[in-house]
Amino acid sequence: MSKVAVVYWSGTGNTESMAYAVCEGAKGAGAECDMCTAAQFTADKVAEYDAIAFGCPAMGAEVLEESEFEPMFTSCLSALNGKKSALFGSFGWGDGEWMRNWEDTCRSAGMNLVCDSVTANNAPADSDLDACKDLGKALA
Ligand SMILES: Cc1cc2nc3c(=O)[nH]c(=O)nc-3n(C[C@H](O)[C@H](O)[C@H](O)COP(=O)(O)O)c2cc1C
Repeated sequence: MSKVAVVYWSGTGNTESMAYAVCEGAKGAGAECDMCTAAQFTADKVAEYDAIAFGCPAMGAEVLEESEFEPMFTSCLSALNGKKSALFGSFGWGDGEWMRNWEDTCRSAGMNLVCDSVTANNAPADSDLDACKDLGKALA
């Protein structure tokens, strides 16, 4: 059985709803899945998982959340080389620039992004949650 982690930060719950759907999708496809907040995850845990989904909303000016998520994610980058991964998150008024920049960072670090990232405008619609379930399935 493959082991998947869903590592996320969420201020108002939108990305958290997406995280639960990712985990549901991974479990539905037969994987074991752990939900971890950004504060609970550290670089030494990367090796415990076959695949990891990272979720973070657009914050600041089109960047990752800067106090917990970004430092945690940056500290994991060298361990994530070659790791099966996928990205998701909610945004507000922007055009998804934060996700494009984040994908570039991941590719530069050699992460293996196994499917398209999932973005949702504010609260995820049912179709967004379905896409999150598919993302979880792709990692399982
Ligand atoms: C401090 C702050 C900065 C934000 N910056 C952006 C931004 O640059 N671009 C954008 O599209 N949305 C931005 N947003 C909107 C959030 O991405 C949006 O509200 C999202 O749904 C929050 O997800 P969450 O409920 O998981 O925290 C920002 C929100 C806050 C509170």
